[in-house]
Amino acid sequence: MKTHTLLMPLDMHIHFRDGVMLQRVAPLTSYCFSGAVVMPNLVPPVTTLEALKAYKQRIKNAIGDGGEDLDEMSVDAFEPFMTLFYKNYDRDFLESVADEIIAIKLYPDGATTNSDGGVKNFDIEVMRETLETMSELDIPLCVHGESNGFVMDREAEFMSVYETLAQNFPDLKIIMEHITTKDAVDMLDKYPNLYATITVQHLLITLDDVAGGMLAPHLFCKPIAKRPEDRDALLKVALNAHPKVMFGSDSAPHPQHAKESCGCAAGVFTAPIALQVLCELFDKHDKLDNLQSFISDNAQSIYSVCPEFKEVILEESDFVVPAKYGDVVPMYAGKTLKWSIEEVL
Ligand code: NCD
Ligand code: ZN
Repeated sequence: MKTHTLLMPLDMHIHFRDGVMLQRVAPLTSYCFSGAVVMPNLVPPVTTLEALKAYKQRIKNAIGDGGEDLDEMSVDAFEPFMTLFYKNYDRDFLESVADEIIAIKLYPDGATTNSDGGVKNFDIEVMRETLETMSELDIPLCVHGESNGFVMDREAEFMSVYETLAQNFPDLKIIMEHITTKDAVDMLDKYPNLYATITVQHLLITLDDVAGGMLAPHLFCKPIAKRPEDRDALLKVALNAHPKVMFGSDSAPHPQHAKESCGCAAGVFTAPIALQVLCELFDKHDKLDNLQSFISDNAQSIYSVCPEFKEVILEESDFVVPAKYGDVVPMYAGKTLKWSIEEVL
């Protein structure tokens, strides 16, 4: 049987939530990833060192539980890389948190789930002190890049903000999170300090899959999936191991009632299927050898992280995606995937 081994997979953008949801979803990631960049959009958002440390501890406790059907052996080898919710922070504060965080995540106010209190207008002068200090302290800035314009144009419209940030803070590492457009892909080669994460769903689906037929709430996320040519541009850089592109699932669990409702929450839950889907996709394009760069090596270089050892062996055998994990419906629920996780060492 065909197998493929991934070393130290990293998920550079994940939503673990809190409470019961955290307990349910975190072990699904810690099982087969060496580390994950944990988003700070709790309610209220993570903005203090105290809150950050307490949240990290709750994540560790959740992982320690090991989940129900998971291999207990792998639970130790997982690092939650913590982030703070962007506000204008002063130097003293940034110095005090620098060792505890991997990045700071900037949300435009109201752009997505739990982003209230984010940045209202991108006045560079108001943000300058914080961003300059972050570059000096080598704290990357992760950005949810959407304007408040027409939904299909939001990411493209945000490119001017990325350009302003990249030009004004040339030593600041800026990560364009979950990119969905060819415009964002083109931006990567324009500025040395711009990088990007890409999700599983944006490599696979377009707006047609979300809203072209029956409305598919479990594929609805922000930024929304775009046009075929956008998806193809994302696929090209991921499959060809573009060194500035990393995997970030943006796995964003919501309870079933919040998705299957007249006001559907944004977020696709992919944590338990991501590696299997990526193997199938890269294999289909004869690019399995490039998956290691996308899933870990590029992130290690970009973020200068050295994850704990983990070896994930996948094999080409059917994996039927469960209908639900607790009360969360995953992407591709009930579908049969071609690759499954055989062993985690
Ligand atoms: C995320 C969430 O639910 O927290 N939702 C989403 O659609 N991606 C927030 C985010 O990353 O935009
Ligand atoms: Zn996200």
